[in-house]
Amino acid sequence: MSYRGAMSCAILAIVAVGFFVQPSLAAVDGVPEDIAALLGLKAAFLDPGGSLEGWNKSTPHCWWVGVGCDELGRVVSLDLNGMNLSGVLSTAVGDLRGLLNLSTAVNSLSGPIPTELSRVSNLRYLNLSNNIFNGSFPSALSRLKNLRILDLYNNNLTGSLPTEVTDLRNLRHLHLGGNFFTGVIPPEYGGWEFLEYLAVSGNELGGRIPPEIGNLSHLRQLYVGYFNSYEGGIPPEMGKLTTLVRLDMANCGLSGEIPAEIGNLVYLDTIFLQVNGLSGRLPTELGQLRSLKSMDLSNNAFTGEILHRLPSLRISPL
Ligand SMILES: *[C@@H]1O[C@H](CO)[C@@H](O)[C@H](O)[C@H]1NC(C)=O
Ligand SMILES: *[C@@H]1O[C@H](CO)[C@@H](O)[C@H](O)[C@H]1NC(C)=O
Ligand SMILES: *[C@@H]1O[C@H](CO)[C@@H](O)[C@H](O)[C@H]1NC(C)=O
Ligand SMILES: *[C@@H]1O[C@H](CO)[C@@H](O)[C@H](O)[C@H]1NC(C)=O
Ligand SMILES: *[C@@H]1O[C@H](CO)[C@@H](O)[C@H](O)[C@H]1NC(C)=O
Ligand SMILES: *[C@@H]1O[C@H](CO)[C@@H](O)[C@H](O)[C@H]1NC(C)=O
Ligand SMILES: *[C@@H]1O[C@H](CO)[C@@H](O)[C@H](O)[C@H]1NC(C)=O
Repeated sequence: MSYRGAMSCAILAIVAVGFFVQPSLAAVDGVPEDIAALLGLKAAFLDPGGSLEGWNKSTPHCWWVGVGCDELGRVVSLDLNGMNLSGVLSTAVGDLRGLLNLSTAVNSLSGPIPTELSRVSNLRYLNLSNNIFNGSFPSALSRLKNLRILDLYNNNLTGSLPTEVTDLRNLRHLHLGGNFFTGVIPPEYGGWEFLEYLAVSGNELGGRIPPEIGNLSHLRQLYVGYFNSYEGGIPPEMGKLTTLVRLDMANCGLSGEIPAEIGNLVYLDTIFLQVNGLSGRLPTELGQLRSLKSMDLSNNAFTGEILHRLPSLRISPL
């Protein structure tokens, strides 16, 4: 039997035994630490609905609600989405060293995002959205080199928009919207090679939208509007975002004209620019947006006969 075959037999045996006798799982490296970490997390949550009542030694930890294990009993995913939890996310989360996916979305967790998360070096998916985490983004999280998805939407985070996230070279999806971040969008945010989704909407951002954003060559969705109040206008470099499908720059103090280069975004399906100080004539190049299904340009200061000039668009009146 090959080494691999022998290994999978051994694993099968462990799993088969593990279903009945928890200690054989606990014998695997790291498993006792994982169990202790889960109990540490539970101890720091307030759980009035009893969502985590079953997290106790009467059942193997891999059966606990929200917990996912690999075949050796290491915790690889933790999904605590919508469990009415409050309290804090314990620093014990940093001991779940095998974790790939973590969601505590849609709870009422408060306090800081624990710096110890930076020790979970294989983490790929982190969703802390819709809580009340506060404080600034812990810079140590720049160590999570495997992170692909980071969703911090709708929390109470403050401070500058973190530049540390630009060290997360594998990011595909970054949602920092709905917080209280201040300052500018760092020009470094144009530096991700694989980023497909970027949202910084609904913060307290200002300054100019950096032209470097135009370098995000895989970007499909961009959300920068609402509550933010920028200086200047739409950078013409955004015409380089030729994979863009959805663009929302509504209600964020933009001025100047819509650059003709926006006509290059031929996959654009939705464009929201309403409630800004945009002016001048609409560029005829907007007529090249063949994929467009939804456009809102209302509440700006455009001149000229808008609909007449864009015969190819099938859109509702402004
Ligand atoms: C959360 O709390 C609300 C109101 O207290 C309750 O209706 C709901 O069933 C709870 N959900 C869970 C998952 O415990
Ligand atoms: C332990 O978990 C079981 C379900 O696995 C549950 O029925 C029991 O009430 C829990 N015990 C305590 C003390 O919460
Ligand atoms: C982690 O989440 C991704 C998608 O969100 C999923 O494809 C993957 O199977 C999950 N992995 C684990 C270990 O749960
Ligand atoms: C994060 O969780 C929320 C709530 O379940 C969900 O709506 C959102 O899509 C998740 N984010 C990502 C990037 O998967
Ligand atoms: C976070 O919120 C708690 C409770 O509201 C507060 O005591 C603490 O000062 C806040 N921390 C920061 C950094 O704002
Ligand atoms: C979140 O921040 C907002 C605005 O600063 C504040 O009104 C609210 O009380 C904060 N929530 C908590 C739970 O700290
Ligand atoms: C990114 O864009 C800026 C401004 O548009 C440009 O000067 C810079 O050279 C670009 N950087 C890279 C790495 O392409």
